[in-house]
Amino acid sequence: MRTLAIALFSLCSVAAAEDARQLATLPAPAQEVLRLEMLDNMAALNEILSLLAADKLKEAAEVAETRLGLSTMGRHRDKPFEARPGPNMPPAMHAIGMDGHRAASAFATAAKSGDRVKAMSLLPALTSTCVACHYSYRIR
Ligand code: HEC
Repeated sequence: MRTLAIALFSLCSVAAAEDARQLATLPAPAQEVLRLEMLDNMAALNEILSLLAADKLKEAAEVAETRLGLSTMGRHRDKPFEARPGPNMPPAMHAIGMDGHRAASAFATAAKSGDRVKAMSLLPALTSTCVACHYSYRIR
């Protein structure tokens, strides 16, 4: 039992030592809004990939623009400040988020024009922002 406790303790401290991500402290309401938004980001990305695979470019463009693109910016403007994720983030973190919106819109423009190869070539710029933020920041 004691050995297990020690083993668990060292596992935990190894995990903690390896998490070099910067902690961004967001107010609880903003965390909750961010979490729901993130779940939808994942679902939207999955829909985009499914639509692309089915050669439904216009629909993929629509999902990208309306759920991830620049047109989604400011959607929490009417909420109290503590419930708005963006402005409560460190500026560099917020900037990665905005890069993501820009990349989603660039993809949407290419997909809408029917250029499948170009649209696909622009997708990694979007997913890279998911990776960049997740690997650089944590909120708890
Ligand atoms: C600007 C930073 C940032 C960007 C960009 C970002 N995320 Fe996140 N994401 C976060 C943070 C911070 C959390 C942790 C939320 C928490 O712990 O409640 C998170 C959590 C998540 C979760 C887990 C949600 C849950 O609690 O179940 C998913 C899924 C997710 N992100 C998907 C994505 C996808 C897909 C993208 C890109 C399209 C993306 N994220 C882009 C910051 C970001």
